[in-house]
Amino acid sequence: METSTRFLHATEMGVGAWAWGDRVIWNYGGSYTDEDVRGAFDISLEKGVHLVDTAEVYGRGRSERLIGKFLKNTEDPVLLATKFMPYPWRLRKQALLRSLRHSLERLDVEAVDLYQIHWPIPPISIETWMNELALAVTEGLTRTVGVSNYSESQMLQAYSALARHDIPLASNQVEYHLLDRRAEKSGLLARCKELDIRLIAYSPLAMGLLTGKYTVVSPPPGMRGRRFSKILPKLPPLLNLMTQIGQDQGGKSNAQIALNWLICKGTMPIPGAKNAKQAEANAGALGWKLTEDQVEALDEASEVFIKE
Ligand SMILES: NC(=O)c1ccc[n+]([C@@H]2O[C@H](COP(=O)([O-])OP(=O)(O)OC[C@H]3O[C@@H](n4cnc5c(N)ncnc54)[C@H](OP(=O)(O)O)[C@@H]3O)[C@@H](O)[C@H]2O)c1
Repeated sequence: METSTRFLHATEMGVGAWAWGDRVIWNYGGSYTDEDVRGAFDISLEKGVHLVDTAEVYGRGRSERLIGKFLKNTEDPVLLATKFMPYPWRLRKQALLRSLRHSLERLDVEAVDLYQIHWPIPPISIETWMNELALAVTEGLTRTVGVSNYSESQMLQAYSALARHDIPLASNQVEYHLLDRRAEKSGLLARCKELDIRLIAYSPLAMGLLTGKYTVVSPPPGMRGRRFSKILPKLPPLLNLMTQIGQDQGGKSNAQIALNWLICKGTMPIPGAKNAKQAEANAGALGWKLTEDQVEALDEASEVFIKE
């Protein structure tokens, strides 16, 4: 198996599959169905988005099972990224390979392209999980390995531990979007570039806020409404600028501007999409670039949201 991480650097954008089967946050089975999700998968491939990001915990395995089903109906190449959750009660290092094998069963494939540690949760050390990830590569169960939600120092620990096995740390998947630029301001992004680690930007639309469809009077449903109640009143100036830039770019949507900004920053956004319409719209972030001035204007307008 080709184990180079080059394919990740060549991938401009992926599609996030958290909502594919998740009832708790995303209301799967209520406002959208399996058929909607299948539409998101199919249209993503058709429009050139070939990487799908999932996790064993999404919909308690349902996301992986759905992807496994969808894979049967396509000839298109699909890059599969999934994740291991190091729950604090998973005290045996063998848990990682066992979980990976379960993910492979649900996906119904022999190997994935990227296997990531979902969160840096103690008590098991970073080194121990990296040794297990290295084993997953040598056993041919994953092509490359990555981490998620790792700080710069945790990422460096992971990088060094894998280097002892001669295996590169392929990626660090962290929250990054116009309303949360910690990845950029902390120096994490610069360090990723220096070490050839792909920064995968999750929640790139700020869980839907950056599409512009949610306002103070029409907030997102459920947990998102509560989480973002303080941010919503501050959004209009940034959204107005995004709309203006979208018009100057020949009619791009706010979501497309948000995703293109992340691509211009040298990261790979993985927007979630619940249906074909959203997936198709998001794929419209590919094939063009914001100007440097537009990126700067967006940087400036987003300063008000910066978390250090
Ligand atoms: N590693 C981690 O810890 C971690 C954490 C979070 C996410 N992730 C990954 O990142 C992926 C994306 O993050 P996310 O799902 O949290 O948030 P997101 O991509 O910022 O937002 C996705 C949501 O925005 C809405 N939306 C998407 N495209 C749209 C469009 N074109 N027009 C209008 N609305 C649109 C949909 O919800 P509504 O229609 O309901 O608004 C969709 O579910 C996840 O699927 C997952 O793979 C990873």
